[in-house]
Amino acid sequence: MLQINPPLNELVSLAKKGLHELFGVEATHLAAAPGRVNLIGEHIDYCDGFVLPFAIERYLVIAARPNDTMTARVASSLGGEPVELDLTQLQEPAEPKWVNYLRGVIRGFQDRGYEIKGFDALIVSSIPGGAGLSSSAALECAMATLLEGILGVSLELKEKALLCQKAEHNFAFVPCGIMDQFASTFGKEDHLVMIDCQSGEPQWVPFMNRDLTVLISNTMVHHELSDGGYALRRKHTEQALSALGKASWRDVSEQDVLTMWDQLGDPVNRRARHVVGEIARTMAAAKVLEQGDFQALGPLMAASHDSLRDDFEVSCAELDAMVNIARSIGNEGGVIGARMTGGGFGGSTVTLCEASAASVIAKKLASEYLLQTGITAQIFASRPARGAHLLEWEK
Ligand code: GLA
Repeated sequence: MLQINPPLNELVSLAKKGLHELFGVEATHLAAAPGRVNLIGEHIDYCDGFVLPFAIERYLVIAARPNDTMTARVASSLGGEPVELDLTQLQEPAEPKWVNYLRGVIRGFQDRGYEIKGFDALIVSSIPGGAGLSSSAALECAMATLLEGILGVSLELKEKALLCQKAEHNFAFVPCGIMDQFASTFGKEDHLVMIDCQSGEPQWVPFMNRDLTVLISNTMVHHELSDGGYALRRKHTEQALSALGKASWRDVSEQDVLTMWDQLGDPVNRRARHVVGEIARTMAAAKVLEQGDFQALGPLMAASHDSLRDDFEVSCAELDAMVNIARSIGNEGGVIGARMTGGGFGGSTVTLCEASAASVIAKKLASEYLLQTGITAQIFASRPARGAHLLEWEK
């Protein structure tokens, strides 16, 4: 029931082998970047909020070798023909869409004046796609890390994350915040990455207690609305802020929202209530974490989910079902807190729990979820993992 996280060196071997099979060459450069899960602070990274994600033990790996041409040939182990990119040109969005994350990152380097020369590359990943676990941010961050390796340069971590976010905006057309790329870049073992999205400064928050772990439950559903729904939520928050007459959500109180409730109108008023409440909950979460009081995260995670479900309306029946099952297992069963994680409209839930009870909890989540929805969920545990990095390998 509890899926095993494939060890990183296994992914690396697969990537090296795949590169050799497809292009007949040995890898000279290997880069890895993790997915992420968010403990709390949802849909507020684009509202000057705080978020508390961490990099998970699921990675995307790229094996590559320069090929002495001006063409990049990239392929994914998921199949399909290798795609060729003409590097004599500035990169622009094109088909196939999945390659746009790579094009966008290459463009970020080109815009900084770097000349990117040809290479062959193969991508393998253990991050479930479309599961709200930032597989696309991992692709961007792994690519940026690979290019650093090939060019022999090293960007500031923050600059690298922002370059990747820009790729997502301009090449995948998703107006995302900074959480995913920051988590994938700044991830650190045994640490959460607390991001102040107003200053854009991340800070590591220790998560040393090995008696605890996090279960990630992929509901295996991805509702269509997703991209448009995300942009629309973002628009609602912008409308609300301007109607409230404030420069930043940090200056908005719960009372401000209540006072303006009717003028804001539905659903913008509920979107605003979510933002203000979620910022307060995430700040409270940071405080209890500082005190090492993990139990106190439970009610905060519960309130976060309810607000995302009722006020922000980005949950769905399957996410609610998974969260409700975790809630019914409760404290006695080792569950500390559960909520949806990521952009929503499907995807995954995050369940903070006692490590010793994790496999029993996963079993219950899976069987009850199957009973209620007819869907087989993917469930795995993860503690905070290392962010994007180049790998040493035996030549
Ligand atoms: C997606 C976006 C992030 C963030 C979350 C919601 O993952 O990429 O920037 O807005 O949704 O918290």
